[in-house]
Amino acid sequence: LLHGSRKEEKTLAIIKPDGVSSHYTNKIKAVILESGFAIVREKILQLDEGNATYFYSEHSGKSFFPRLITYMTSGPVCLMVLEKVNAVSDWRTLIGPTDARKAKVSHPTSIRAMCGVDLERNCVHGSDSRESAAREIAFFFGDINTGKGDRKHDEL
Ligand code: PPS
Repeated sequence: LLHGSRKEEKTLAIIKPDGVSSHYTNKIKAVILESGFAIVREKILQLDEGNATYFYSEHSGKSFFPRLITYMTSGPVCLMVLEKVNAVSDWRTLIGPTDARKAKVSHPTSIRAMCGVDLERNCVHGSDSRESAAREIAFFFGDINTGKGDRKHDEL
């Protein structure tokens, strides 16, 4: 009851292909748990051009879009639904700035500073708002409250 006023949120985390192939998955999951998040869903998936293009459709007009799609489909990713109070914003803070190279200077303890390489290979994704989080979680996991469309077992 004491926790009733503190609203739990969910957000989508992705360990991108460079993070998975460089064996950062366990390290990142340890940081996630130490930071007070619960990992409530998880799966490894190989994105194809279709679902990557749909997932990143808001960036489709940008110059980096083709490279982003090539990169995100270059190997398996680890998708996780994280849950905690203020999860969306706290996860974005924990991952640090988009450009991992800059993160190493300005936010050296962030996940992108520790595990990322540059603006493209920045190791992790985090939903940018509660609305994006709901959309992104539904896209990969279906309705996780009712279990409808839940595909959590179709791992690679
Ligand atoms: S924007 O324009 O501010 O909305 O873009 P930003 O939030 O910085 O980035 C959106 C996602 O695109 C990725 N990105 C890139 N990929 C490859 N090359 C370049 N130059 C590049 N710039 C941005 C960035 O990592 C973001 O991916 P996610 O998965 O959302 O973190």
